[in-house]
Amino acid sequence: MLRILLPLLVLPAPVLAGYLVLVRALKEPVGAAASVEHPSLKRSACLDCHGPIAAEWRRSFHFRSLTGPFWQRIRKKGFDDVFSVLRVPCVNCHAPANVLDLAEGSHPMARTSDRELGVDCVSCHLSEDGIRGPGRSENAPHEVIEDERFRDPFLASTAICARCHDETLDHAKTVTRWRRSDQGRRGITCLHCHMPEVRAATVVSGSARVRRSHRFPGDKVPAMLRSGLDASLRITDARRGVVQITNDRIGHSFPAAGTNSLIVRVTVRDGKQRTVRELEREFGTREWIPGYLDFWPFLQVTKIPAGESREIDVELPAGHGVVSAEFRYRDWFAIKDRDLIFHRLDRRF
Ligand code: HEC
Ligand code: HEC
Ligand code: HEC
Ligand code: HEC
Ligand code: HEC
Repeated sequence: MLRILLPLLVLPAPVLAGYLVLVRALKEPVGAAASVEHPSLKRSACLDCHGPIAAEWRRSFHFRSLTGPFWQRIRKKGFDDVFSVLRVPCVNCHAPANVLDLAEGSHPMARTSDRELGVDCVSCHLSEDGIRGPGRSENAPHEVIEDERFRDPFLASTAICARCHDETLDHAKTVTRWRRSDQGRRGITCLHCHMPEVRAATVVSGSARVRRSHRFPGDKVPAMLRSGLDASLRITDARRGVVQITNDRIGHSFPAAGTNSLIVRVTVRDGKQRTVRELEREFGTREWIPGYLDFWPFLQVTKIPAGESREIDVELPAGHGVVSAEFRYRDWFAIKDRDLIFHRLDRRF
């Protein structure tokens, strides 16, 4: 095995660089569609009238997708310069032109104006022929085109969310993975978990009614992370501590994104509180150069697919003590100092 791997590792830099440029040149460009603007309403006008929805959306990472902490770190670390030199399209899904007129399987175009609004109302609701929605309102001061994609959560998932959440890399195809999952087959959609129903108004001083939230909670909301975790810790007769994690509550890989990981640290302490054993397992994606070397050994995907379980097994010493499992979530592989500890299990033996 080493014999096959070693020559790869000592590939001279120019050969590697040449390979990367070639791969880039052969790659299909990400999406192509004209940007649509409303003929009479500015992007910011939607936010003024639709205050209650805008307030939810401002807390989401759709709004913060170009201004949030992760992009700031990307800029600070110089990654965005590298990406622009390599002509990798990054802002396409993060500050997109509209998505409703796109063909299936394509990604949006980057837009040129108001990029700081990220994925906004216009990105999702404006089509070439006007504002589209579920068609529930009767008194809108603008045209409202009833669209099946907003009425049927399954269609919304496959025809709206999928424009950005089903990336070209196989391991990042959240929507494809969800369709094959138990939840996907039972009709529990992206909207059921990420656009939960709330009772609230849709416009400033409007009356409250049941509609779906635009807060889009995800992995950055600790309660949401906990809701997705099904983990147990047991002591077996053979004196082993076994942590089991089952991904049966999420509907896509855990974690979904290729940049994040779930880290489980198992610690064994003896009766005198001394640490006698410690091990850590990471479930996520390791890529040497994201998007380029998408095959083993440069790409290692250890995320837990929907419906599957993973076990971490540790030997326990003689006598009494405690075994613990700490669950951490790392929200972007390049940032290691912000891990969120969101769950912990302890068992005496
Ligand atoms: C096809 C659409 C698409 C393109 C193109 C794209 N992204 Fe993303 N990006 C997403 C989606 C969707 C997410 C949400 C997390 C996920 O499911 O991967 C995301 C998340 C992120 C995050 C945040 C991760 C987090 O944990 O919040 C960063 C940072 C990021 N992308 C950077 C980039 C960079 C840099 C590029 C260019 C190399 C890029 N993106 C290109 C769709 C895209
Ligand atoms: C990521 C895509 C996305 C973004 C961004 C988005 N929406 Fe929506 N919106 C949806 C979907 C999907 C629905 C349909 C939800 C449902 O099934 O009821 C919806 C529903 C609505 C409705 C109808 C609510 C009802 O039940 O009557 C209004 C009004 C609305 N959105 C306004 C906005 C405004 C204003 C913004 C910007 C602050 C916005 N949306 C941003 C996807 C989006
Ligand atoms: C002058 C105020 C105003 C502005 C500006 C405005 N809206 Fe509306 N919009 C409304 C009102 C009022 C309704 C009806 C609300 C209801 O019945 O709950 C509505 C309804 C909607 C709906 C629901 C349609 C449906 O299918 O039921 C969507 C989607 C929507 N607006 C999106 C937008 C977008 C996108 C923009 C910006 C391009 C925008 N609105 C700008 C006042 C406004
Ligand atoms: C135009 C592209 C686009 C569309 C359409 C879109 N998203 Fe997103 N979404 C993104 C990007 C980009 C991010 C990552 C923002 C970041 O973390 O920087 C994101 C983030 C999220 C997050 C939060 C993840 C986190 O890290 O907190 C959730 C949840 C989410 N999207 C759900 C949905 C759902 C559900 C739909 C369909 C109704 C949808 N999105 C449609 C681009 C899109
Ligand atoms: C049964 C509930 C459920 C369904 C269905 C579901 N999700 Fe999630 N999703 C979660 C939970 C819980 C998390 C937090 C754990 C995680 O990061 O995987 C999450 C996380 C996410 C994230 C943030 C992940 C990251 O690593 O940054 C995105 C983006 C996302 N989901 C998009 C989607 C999309 C798009 C769909 C539909 C194809 C969908 N989800 C369907 C429950 C669900």
